[in-house]
Amino acid sequence: MSREDESLYYEADAPVPETPPPGKSPAPWKKTHFIGKPVTRVDAYERVSGKAIYPSDVSLPRMLYGAILRSPHPKARVKTMDTTDAENMKGVHAVISASTPEADLYWPYAKDKKAKLFDSLCLYEGETVAAVAAETPYQAWDAIRAIKVHYEVLPFVVDERKSLDPGAPAVHPEGNWVKPVEIYERGDIAKGFAGADVVLEQSYRTECELHTPMELHGCVAQWDRHSLTIWESTQGVYPVQARVAEVLNMPLSKVRVIGHYMGGGFGSKLQADKSTIIAALLAKKTGRPVKLFLTREETYLAVGNRPPANMKLKAGIKKDGTLTAFQFSCIATGGAFPAGGTSLVDWLVRDLYLCPNVRCELSDLYINAGPSRPFRAPGHPQGAWALEQMMDALAEAIKMDPVELRLKNIPSFSQSREGKPPYTTTGLKDCLEQGAKAFGWTDARKATSETPKKARIRRGVGMASCLWFVGGGGPPSTVILRLFSDGSVNLNMGASDLGTGTKTVMALVVAEELGVKPDTIQIEHADTGTTQYATASGGSKTVPTESPTVRAAAIEIKQQLLKLAAEEMNVDPSALTISRGVVMATNDPSKKLKIKEISGLKSRGVIVGIGYRGPNPKNKFVNPFCAQFCEVEVDMRTGEVKIIRFLSTNDSGRVMDRLTYNNQVVGGITMGIGLATTEMRILDGNQTGKMVNRNWHDYKLPTTLDVPALITSMPIDRPDDEANITGSKGLGEPVTIPTAAAIANAIYDATGIRMTTSPINPMTLCEALVKDRKEV
Ligand code: MOS
Repeated sequence: MSREDESLYYEADAPVPETPPPGKSPAPWKKTHFIGKPVTRVDAYERVSGKAIYPSDVSLPRMLYGAILRSPHPKARVKTMDTTDAENMKGVHAVISASTPEADLYWPYAKDKKAKLFDSLCLYEGETVAAVAAETPYQAWDAIRAIKVHYEVLPFVVDERKSLDPGAPAVHPEGNWVKPVEIYERGDIAKGFAGADVVLEQSYRTECELHTPMELHGCVAQWDRHSLTIWESTQGVYPVQARVAEVLNMPLSKVRVIGHYMGGGFGSKLQADKSTIIAALLAKKTGRPVKLFLTREETYLAVGNRPPANMKLKAGIKKDGTLTAFQFSCIATGGAFPAGGTSLVDWLVRDLYLCPNVRCELSDLYINAGPSRPFRAPGHPQGAWALEQMMDALAEAIKMDPVELRLKNIPSFSQSREGKPPYTTTGLKDCLEQGAKAFGWTDARKATSETPKKARIRRGVGMASCLWFVGGGGPPSTVILRLFSDGSVNLNMGASDLGTGTKTVMALVVAEELGVKPDTIQIEHADTGTTQYATASGGSKTVPTESPTVRAAAIEIKQQLLKLAAEEMNVDPSALTISRGVVMATNDPSKKLKIKEISGLKSRGVIVGIGYRGPNPKNKFVNPFCAQFCEVEVDMRTGEVKIIRFLSTNDSGRVMDRLTYNNQVVGGITMGIGLATTEMRILDGNQTGKMVNRNWHDYKLPTTLDVPALITSMPIDRPDDEANITGSKGLGEPVTIPTAAAIANAIYDATGIRMTTSPINPMTLCEALVKDRKEV
């Protein structure tokens, strides 16, 4: 193919949407050519061939390796530490600890919360005690083992249910409350319960889940005189830059953070780790680049978790399905240094279903364990575990189908937000109705109810629904697009691609607007030194935040292009359209100019289009919705649960890339299966307070054998044109919120046993089955 051939860059049959005049909003896309289609990732080859360079692959000349000594006890005081042997070992270049000047730096582990970078008082197993840099990772770890520490082991508490017991050791001097109880209230619950036909009350618990990104936490840090460059496995290069600059007291311009590829992040990589600072300090001290990646064990101990939730829910309902009151409470724990993730457990109780009288109480208690952290839809899967099991029980009590009960109680507005703003779009009704139909809900329920009571293998179906608190993203976001003189395009954005396909979705937006082929677009991203500002990729807001910005930048390119062509053709820009790399007069296609022949473009070499993200609509709220349905098989003798099939219906606004969309659905369900059936952090509360399952053998992640082959992704593909100019609302988190509850409901349908504590595994289910048999 010759470079003369415009089909090199332009898709022959891709119509380009009309270009609005400067200052006017574009019309929503109607028929799309790229958007909504299943498009393979633009970096698929790099990813699957091993060519992609992740931060953990970065290797620099003269690079040293860092390692961290961590407290082996949940609470201990370092009485003495001797690093002499370690310092004298072959290959060791630096040791830093509570007795070197670096200890005086502060660690802002959460908003308005600071701790010392190294503290001789360790408050959890895994707390940093010292760090070394050496020529090889082996020398670094040998040196760590050669540091002699005498700890005074102190009394600890590692169970939030015991954190307030009289005599429980105080984690921090001020006691074990992280903050006062958070109370939400509307209406009058006493009146609500009094007016109910049925009142049910139940306790629920979800266990603590540990962050398990495939790529471990870590970075490579390099100094160049006073400038610091960090290659970090992160969800957001700008937040990392800000924290590093804050701790090291440097200008933002002297901290460059690069995060091109990264191997997964579900909330624990929204911010820099302490290890990032330690790597930077070791690099400064040695004058050499330092690579510091945590081990899986350190990751489990120190980077964060979805905190356990101890919940109580009391609900009142009328016979016709009208909800009259919810009373909810949750005790969670942020560990010793809470870094987010303990709030929002009550959000679904507050907002998912119409209910006039609601009271929620959230408590957050310190324990001597690693920090809580945002974890894919913070709070929501826990809350759904309680609420969605309760909705099932309520439906049964009033003899109503669970889907019907939910359909009866769908709000069109956010009940607990100030001013009760209406949702821009609410696809929950469609999710429930279309999902139930596609799943064959009614027939499947009938079939499972007809299974003989004595059958060893019993089937059950269950469902649950949700919304996700964050929706629609929003500013700030800036993107720069450059059109080269041959018509090819460079996209420059700050957002990280967690592996979700962000780059691909943004390339599709450019392709849709300009008609260029997605795989010819050069993408520069996630580098504070060279790319535009972006917030961290999280909150399921990356697509709704960045894609409208990209579209705005592409439109600006088209406006400039039309202006240049119009000057040359001596017409008004509004009389021109763009098609297949050619600008032509709308009413006379014979009057045309190839884009690469526009002399104004040639003389400039490049056209720069800057896109900004406008605000979300005022007095309205954007939320994504989801409903999931599943079928399980329970072995009534062994307690084994086999998940047969899953269906997820999602209202996430416009489907951008159908392939990466489906990937999110499968990934979200897989994580939900982990919460429901396999995952839990186990701390030895009686003797040592240590984590006993800190590796992939003992911390049970769902494997392919635990995940059904049959997972159906069913989008309610309804562009939310009020939300933003791409109509997208966000998907990554809603797809994991209802999963665990749907499984618990299906297990109830199969067994008649309400499993209120996660994970439901053969041990816990067997125990419940045996107890149930005895009671019969
Ligand atoms: Mo997520 S908890 O928004 O990374």
